[in-house]
Amino acid sequence: MSRFAYVNGRFVRHGEAVVHIEDRGYQLADGVYEVWAVFDGKLADAEGHFTRLWRSLDELRITHPMGQAALTFVLREAVRRNKVRDGLVYLQVTRGVARRDHAFPNPGVAPSMVITAKSVDRELAERKAAQGASVISVPENRWGRCDIKSIGLLPNALAKQAARERGAVEAWFVDELGLVTEGASSNAWIVDAEGNLRTRDANANILRGITRSTLFEVIREAGLPINEKPFTIAEAQGAREAFVTGAGTLVLPIVNIDGVKLGDGLPGPVATRLRRLYIQRAKEKAV
Ligand code: PDD
Repeated sequence: MSRFAYVNGRFVRHGEAVVHIEDRGYQLADGVYEVWAVFDGKLADAEGHFTRLWRSLDELRITHPMGQAALTFVLREAVRRNKVRDGLVYLQVTRGVARRDHAFPNPGVAPSMVITAKSVDRELAERKAAQGASVISVPENRWGRCDIKSIGLLPNALAKQAARERGAVEAWFVDELGLVTEGASSNAWIVDAEGNLRTRDANANILRGITRSTLFEVIREAGLPINEKPFTIAEAQGAREAFVTGAGTLVLPIVNIDGVKLGDGLPGPVATRLRRLYIQRAKEKAV
């Protein structure tokens, strides 16, 4: 099937889509990104991802490439042209193209923007979620602004590769206090020994996950106890359940941490229920 990408104002064939060699994204990782899950051809948690995109851009003083209405149109067009029913849309915005210099171009240049979309086999994803996934831990080695969804993802890529080489789907970063910060591309959660849902406070140098925020609403409506308190790997290994959240994984039960099986090694009832409730909510609210 032909795929199409949006590059700086137009849709082009995916195989022919190119950016300039002096784009600051390519040269300096000077840019941000966002990822929307797509359900039935519609964008999930749309507003939350837009709000975070504008914030990431503002924090880095990168000009907004376009307004929200226009961007919504282009994202939907990327979904439509790629015939994505269930999948993901990726957006990258960089500071633009300029002669190489670490400092910002002066005068400023127009930001660059790229959008791609891909399909996901949700039936396969459901089968995998029903089996549960494994994570490994790696030392936290990222910068102090993980609240910005920066395209500078080298530590995340290395962590994810380490996970893959050990048969795991995700790597959890662990800070110098021995506390889990988040995953390489997801937020980390446990259901602790007392039955409380636990995840790290989003003000503590992690990405404020949009899936995480929506799940907070779902959890409150379900009347489940929640505590924004970080946990150690040992606590997670002794927890009743664990799971990760993100646009790519939705709510994915974790059944093995650093080779230690959680409980009976099967996805727990809370994570399984939250996955179902999150997907239901995301589908209802998708636009
Ligand atoms: N990753 N933490 C990190 C480091 C992430 O990269 C992501 C998302 C999340 C979860 O955020 P959200 O719920 O808004 O997707 C947390 C995306 C999916 C990615 O890099 O592909």
